[in-house]
Amino acid sequence: MPQDFTMPSPSILTLLSLLMVTEVSSVSKTNCSYTHLMEHLNLLDTNQVLADVRPVVNWTSPTGVKMDLYVYGILDVDEKSQTLTCQAWSNTGWLNEFLSWNESDFCGIDKLTVPRKKLWAPDISIQEDTDSITKGPYASLYSNGIVTVMDSLRLKTACNMDLYKFPFDAQTCQMTVTSLSHCEAAMMIDRWSTSEYLNQFSRQVLNNKGEWSLVSINTTKEKSIYQKRSWDKLIFKITIKRSPMLYVGNFLIPLLYFLVLDLASFFINQTRGEKLSFKITILLSISVLLLIFNDILPSTANKLPLIATYCIVVFTLVGLNLLVTMLVGFLMDLERKEGWDLQTHASVQSSPPENEAEKGVPTEASPEQKAPGGGTQGLSDSRLLQLALEEVWRIRLEVVSAVGAGDHRKTGYWERVAKRIDTVYFCIYIIFTIVFHGFLFITWIQ
Ligand SMILES: *[C@@H]1O[C@H](CO)[C@@H](O)[C@H](O)[C@H]1NC(C)=O
Repeated sequence: MPQDFTMPSPSILTLLSLLMVTEVSSVSKTNCSYTHLMEHLNLLDTNQVLADVRPVVNWTSPTGVKMDLYVYGILDVDEKSQTLTCQAWSNTGWLNEFLSWNESDFCGIDKLTVPRKKLWAPDISIQEDTDSITKGPYASLYSNGIVTVMDSLRLKTACNMDLYKFPFDAQTCQMTVTSLSHCEAAMMIDRWSTSEYLNQFSRQVLNNKGEWSLVSINTTKEKSIYQKRSWDKLIFKITIKRSPMLYVGNFLIPLLYFLVLDLASFFINQTRGEKLSFKITILLSISVLLLIFNDILPSTANKLPLIATYCIVVFTLVGLNLLVTMLVGFLMDLERKEGWDLQTHASVQSSPPENEAEKGVPTEASPEQKAPGGGTQGLSDSRLLQLALEEVWRIRLEVVSAVGAGDHRKTGYWERVAKRIDTVYFCIYIIFTIVFHGFLFITWIQ
């Protein structure tokens, strides 16, 4: 019985072997699995040589490495330490001369993903500080031998920030990509996509719409000579722009309002004390605004931002305005005192109707005495008129002295000086304000 099972008849054996052969050959022709392709490329068991050695047939030919960098998040811009933290994807590709296949032989497979550690990869790094790199676990292998890897980076790069135009500023930060151990003869680093495509794609994927927006990413290629060898450098210049609305709404417009209020205070009557207190209030409000602003303004050592100059100028203008108001008030007071002295002097000595009245005092009784006594009617009428005139004059003087520096007083020297100072300062103030704002506008907007 067991013999029957262990020894099949030769006819069955040949049939089985025939079947197996046809099956294997049909499998090798129609196998569409990645495993088969991996086997063909000698990648199934860990082929250490493929991972260790730069994949070129002739050692003199350099490996061309192409790289793209897409910014998809601007996390932080620190003006004090002059750094930009952003999230980016890098897409790196190169040619592996040993790994290529004919697509038609493998059911049209044109792309294969293999673990990164199986393949050699260029040792390019970003010279500026890199916070963290999340490496994609797989490398993509294309049928023509191109290998690509995708990394997610959190970059912290140093920028040379110029805050002169703050908050209407744009900053450029750069990232330098270079190889650590391969000079140009062995590795040529270049950009992959055009700048337009990089910009377009970055803007498409940029996910946060915060204070900063991406203007452009530009790539330039540079070489540096070190130990008589030339090294390739690829520089990505990232330009970002601040959206100024926060600062315009919270700071610039209120400051402008205060300036306009200060200008308008020229039309408050000088004789009232309100003018001075109003201007002091404005000065105080600006001080409070400046205190708040002190926290917002990024501090830099190299150049005073224009907005700080603006604050200083506005504060100085309003302060100067206060001083001028005080001076004008002082001159008015001086005039008032002198005017008062003059008036009292005039009322005693040089006022003609008063003199007449004084002369007329003794004769004042005479019309009343003479009129019943049959004096001429015309004379008594004129006397009556003179009396009335005298009374009116007296009342007028009283009114003038009561008002103090009244309008009817002849304008004295000091008052004229005060008014001139006020007018001239107002004109200078307005002209300067307009010119200064024009200059600011042109500088900020361009
Ligand atoms: C290797 O490349 C160099 C320079 O391109 C060339 O002169 C040389 O003939 C090549 N060697 C082989 C074996 O192809």
